[in-house]
Amino acid sequence: AQLHSLAISSGLQYFGTATDNSELVDASLVSALSNHSEFGQVTPGNSQKWDSIEPGPNTFSFAKGDEIAALGKQNSQLLRCHTLVWFQQLPTWVQNGTWTNETLIAAMENHITTTVTHYKGSCHSWDVVNEALEADGSFRKSIFFSTIGEAYLKIAFDATAAADPDVKLYYNDFGIETPGPKTSAALNIVRSLKASGTRIDGVGLQSHFIVGSTPSREVQIANLESFTSLGVEVAITELDIRMTLPSTAAQESQQTTDYQNTASACVAVANCVGLSVWGFSDKYSWVPSTFPGTGSACPFDENLARKSAYYGIIAGL
Ligand code: XIL
Repeated sequence: AQLHSLAISSGLQYFGTATDNSELVDASLVSALSNHSEFGQVTPGNSQKWDSIEPGPNTFSFAKGDEIAALGKQNSQLLRCHTLVWFQQLPTWVQNGTWTNETLIAAMENHITTTVTHYKGSCHSWDVVNEALEADGSFRKSIFFSTIGEAYLKIAFDATAAADPDVKLYYNDFGIETPGPKTSAALNIVRSLKASGTRIDGVGLQSHFIVGSTPSREVQIANLESFTSLGVEVAITELDIRMTLPSTAAQESQQTTDYQNTASACVAVANCVGLSVWGFSDKYSWVPSTFPGTGSACPFDENLARKSAYYGIIAGL
């Protein structure tokens, strides 16, 4: 069995991957990506971010997001839509605009309503807010927090729910895969949205891990359950496990174990609904350019061949 088909037999809703428009000119990549028993879900890596979707005020550009959505639909793959409100990859008119509380709320609501309405029926879930927290658990001083305050989260979730009552609403972040101040703050986001009557359906744990310091299976299970005990589902949304280059047999073996532990943790948690890697092949991974000196983070190598890490996921599912 392959990744998605095994994930389904183990009670998950999907195994999936991020992909990006620039990769779709690569026929072998597209062919591997389109294997539904391997990938039952796709996430656009960049093309639904604010700078791509609304590059100018009220000027919308859906072509690239639509390309990924159409590919996913053709392959019967669920679409995790990513992302509506994030401090990065903002167009300059948002990042450097002169805003008041009122005008930024209006711009954010317009962005959300137009985008969510456009993708209604295509998206299985939306990462409504991405990366709102700092490592110490305080709110990140984004343009949204600085202008609107903590209320921007509620406003964003409410606007998404109003535009698409059927899509799953997620909060997504990294560094919330183990207990600590940031995880406590993410739990508080869930509690406070729910307490104020706002719908939140899930929390996405990005899970950008490092070989050897990936949390253990037990730690990941307990941590995922700290979220599900609040009445939300969880998903591992951007899994990759990087190593210092050059790769060594010892690191590859540890990476295999790390992938296995993460997959098996999700399977063990009743409301962990799916597992997605942030790109399945080292050929297009974001890791080497973002974390220089590291790489080999994906389950398929640069030639799209299955690595030991792949079989670690298989063993965990
Ligand atoms: C990354 C993309 O993969 C890169 O191509 C881009 O240059 C920067 O963003 N967390 C997220 C993703 O939620 O949107 C990021 O994607 C990776 C970290």
